[in-house]
Amino acid sequence: MSEQRDRHQDASDALGEAKVSRDRIGSEASERASRLWWDADADDYHRTHGQFLGVDSDQGEFIWCPEGLHEGDMRLLGEVAGQRILEIGCGSAPCSRWLANQGAQAVGLDISMQMLRYGVDAMERAGRQVPLVQAGAESLPFADESFDSACSAFGGVPFVADSARVMREVARVLKPGGRWVFSVNHPMRWCFADDPGPMGMVASIPYFDRSPYVELNEEGEAIYVEHHRTIGDRVREIVAAGLVLEDIVEPDWPEWLDREGGQWSPMRGRVFPGTAIFSARKPG
Ligand SMILES: C[S@@+](CC[C@H](N)C(=O)[O-])C[C@H]1O[C@@H](n2cnc3c(N)ncnc32)[C@H](O)[C@@H]1O
Repeated sequence: MSEQRDRHQDASDALGEAKVSRDRIGSEASERASRLWWDADADDYHRTHGQFLGVDSDQGEFIWCPEGLHEGDMRLLGEVAGQRILEIGCGSAPCSRWLANQGAQAVGLDISMQMLRYGVDAMERAGRQVPLVQAGAESLPFADESFDSACSAFGGVPFVADSARVMREVARVLKPGGRWVFSVNHPMRWCFADDPGPMGMVASIPYFDRSPYVELNEEGEAIYVEHHRTIGDRVREIVAAGLVLEDIVEPDWPEWLDREGGQWSPMRGRVFPGTAIFSARKPG
């Protein structure tokens, strides 16, 4: 669920005082909320996470999750050179830029123009261009079987109302044999308050309650949304899209990492997982 709002001062200033709701919210309103939120939060997000994610490095970096797993070590996408790869919820696209530097033809997609703008600025500085597309993850503006692989690092999937549709869309644009690897908050994190300290160690929210976490502004408009799926829901959505699930990676919190903020801390990470990385493949 949402990180503490004091870390999101710009978004709070731009979007106003928020009230939390757990009411159902559909695809269109969720997309609108995410566009508003991520546009307003882009500066804070990059101040807080830009260095860790390698946003300013010339070649980009591919960090899967707050536990710091790098695609250069994990190789969850296999050999990427020469592959056409779609990144969903790319933000400022450090992952797509890293893939391009490994010889892939990467394309980044995101709903927020302000997040993409950070990527455009970074590419201008580095002198290497990766195509970036502004669109929502539930309707991918690409032809059938046009990508060898697709990936997402905490992008899009936790924020959409219909993640089953995202799975179907990815299955559609993948070539037979193509991989789809995406990281999200580990579903069990839903049970805990977003607090890096002892308060965040106490399970208080039912795992089985799929009502989304929504923040509303004073006009009752959704300005931030997260949609919960259990592990079983995610597996069923992948399988129903005709994909084969090959692995769910649950990264340990590494000894070297003492980064703390929002819901992330060594204290929590050493006791229960924060991230789940789903690795699936289109048959053929
Ligand atoms: C936590 S950020 C991750 C960004 C990037 N992957 C990274 O590692 O820095 C989540 C991203 O998902 C994007 N996003 C949210 N909802 C989306 C949707 N429905 N379709 C596409 N992107 C979306 C946001 O704009 C934001 O850039």
